[in-house]
Amino acid sequence: MSLSDAAFPAARPRRLRSTPAWRRLAAETRVNPAQLVLPLFIAEGASEPRPISSMPGVVQHTADSLRVELALAAAAGIGGVMLFGVPEHKDAIGSGATDPAGILNVATRIAAAEVGDALVVQTDLCLDEFTDHGHCGVLDARGRVDNDATLERYREMALAQAQSGSALLGLSGMMDGQVAAVRAALDGAGRSDVALLGYAAKYASAFYGPFREAVQSSLEGDRRTYQLDPANRREGAREIALDVAESADVVMVKPAMSYLDVLADAAAVSPVPVWAYQVSGEYSMVEAAAAQGWIDRERAIDETLTSIVRAGADAVLTYWAIEAAERWTHA
Ligand code: PBG
Repeated sequence: MSLSDAAFPAARPRRLRSTPAWRRLAAETRVNPAQLVLPLFIAEGASEPRPISSMPGVVQHTADSLRVELALAAAAGIGGVMLFGVPEHKDAIGSGATDPAGILNVATRIAAAEVGDALVVQTDLCLDEFTDHGHCGVLDARGRVDNDATLERYREMALAQAQSGSALLGLSGMMDGQVAAVRAALDGAGRSDVALLGYAAKYASAFYGPFREAVQSSLEGDRRTYQLDPANRREGAREIALDVAESADVVMVKPAMSYLDVLADAAAVSPVPVWAYQVSGEYSMVEAAAAQGWIDRERAIDETLTSIVRAGADAVLTYWAIEAAERWTHA
């Protein structure tokens, strides 16, 4: 055998892919159920769980079906739940968000009582589900989203959520200074124990479409004056840095799959955990294609979650959290 025969090709990466055992041992990324967070919708006044037609398999919960789902989530060993409220009545300032009897605060008390030890109970801290105009903040006289007036509402909302038992407040409104404002309000009220998740790099995305049905959003127009332009990677990094400087305990990139570069940038520099939100449109695209028989549903789901973790996410918010956790546990 000549030297050149032996040397060609010297590198044979296929060796490590040659059997299932090899591939299992050589995998660089492993996703653990503990890294998954399940978003949940709870509807005020619902007597039955209500299917969300644009998100097959996802429902708006009643108090009773919420309890069942929370128990399943805890049994599956996922990391936490993120709660969203769907109120019956909305107004200009989103009063339901700060009302202790408002649906999100009621649901939070239920979750804290049922699974507060097993899971990190998290709440969406944003006004859009509660405002009649559907924006994430309050409006000024000319109809523009008023940043600093909104921060006042967020401070009140934070105290209501902390009081209800939320362990982690998800600041998803993209107002400037929201993390610092809410941190100060909590600390001033003796609630330095409550953690903050800054949706630091949240983009104005078409992939939130199905969510708008899920929460029966009243929004007309869009959120481009406060959410990031999908074109902007450096600005995403700036928003991450600002939320870290304002002492966010965790920062988020959202959506996930179209923003893996932003996620990888953040993961490379962030001193705090970086999470990603696999949003409604990402979920519904896979479900719709799978329903047509165009893709292998389970493989596609696992590939999306693996990719998001591979890019640098420490945890992922995903509507598939329970299903994926159960599949991997029994794999
Ligand atoms: C705002 C909020 C939104 C989502 C989570 N929090 C909607 C928006 O910004 O329009 C979207 C989540 C999803 O699409 O799954 N409260």
